[in-house]
Amino acid sequence: MKIPLIKPFITQEIKDKVIEVLESGYLTEGPVTREFEDTLKDYLGCKHLMAVTSATTGLEMALRALNIGPGDEVIVPDYTYPATASVAPIVGAKAVIVDVSRENMLIDYDALEAAITPRTKVIIPVSLFGAPLDYDRLNAIKEKHNLYIIEDAACTIGAEFKGEKIGRQADITVFSLHPRKFITTGEGGIVTTQSDELAEWMNSYKHFGMDMTGASREGIHFSNIGTNYKLTNLQAAVGLGQLKHIDALLAKRIELANNYEAMLRNVDGITLTHFSEKERCANCTCTSKQCKHSYQTFSIFVEDRDRIMTEMRAKGIEVQIGTYSLHMHEAFQNNPLVEIKGDMKNSLWCYKHALALPLYNDLTPELQERVVTELKACL
Ligand SMILES: Cc1ncc(COP(=O)(O)O)c(C=O)c1O
Repeated sequence: MKIPLIKPFITQEIKDKVIEVLESGYLTEGPVTREFEDTLKDYLGCKHLMAVTSATTGLEMALRALNIGPGDEVIVPDYTYPATASVAPIVGAKAVIVDVSRENMLIDYDALEAAITPRTKVIIPVSLFGAPLDYDRLNAIKEKHNLYIIEDAACTIGAEFKGEKIGRQADITVFSLHPRKFITTGEGGIVTTQSDELAEWMNSYKHFGMDMTGASREGIHFSNIGTNYKLTNLQAAVGLGQLKHIDALLAKRIELANNYEAMLRNVDGITLTHFSEKERCANCTCTSKQCKHSYQTFSIFVEDRDRIMTEMRAKGIEVQIGTYSLHMHEAFQNNPLVEIKGDMKNSLWCYKHALALPLYNDLTPELQERVVTELKACL
């Protein structure tokens, strides 16, 4: 039996809801999207939340909302999915790429601060794989240099910083609903903010530039140049069915991650990259022990990663690299709208050594045992 990397959580209730939407004839964005947004807003405890077509379009919209464009610099980490950085050139700004820390794979806060110039307007740190960022450090940098923070929280629904769910710490936070994430709508994204003004602008932008305020509801009025980033009722029906189980889904991921940690601790040739229950705050300076990882990905570091990945796949166990080192890819080389600051040695190390293991809701401890046994055999 093959063990996949991920498996979306699809229940009969979700299938019934999708059929209900199909039969209603109301397929585009509508009441089911609203219910999905409201449910997630309550869960995250943020002031404004809107669904969009992907995290990538959400990040691009966030930059536009902050009026970022030509002449501006946006600092991003090197070890991330390309979308984090690509959105800067997409709006005409420069992506300034800095290294990450090898311990937690998150942006190196010292490198970030050193890369700030008078042209820096925004930082886009990434809570990679579901690891919460250190907002004590980020807010100190933000205040000192008068910057905006857009969190690329593509992987981070349900994670917490100091007991508070991610989604309200940054100026704008962007989540992904891609199937690698445990709440998925096939494709999709979520944008949150505490700012009325930014929310109003973004809500208009994603609806063709329509004036979305109550005052002008009587007649349709277009107040901005906008686009179409609507998430359909059909997609929202899938996400809504998963949101009803979010606490159980998240608890299960943490349980599975803890199982892996217990099985892999002290295994020669494996370095753990995540934090056990008692060490959860090891990724930040806070001492509250209240930071919570959402384990979108459980990854370890191994030598000879590519050989191990090939062998594991041949055994029917789907493993994957962690993510990408942007500076190694052509899109980010010799590009006037990209600047690589530093040698990126930690990012490159993570790119060569990180291995993501299967993690999904109905993965059993027995299947985890099989993953670990085969992994040890490969080592
Ligand atoms: C860190 C990060 N940012 C952005 C994205 C892009 O998300 P989406 O596929 O929803 O556009 C991903 C996708 O995996 C990601 O991992």
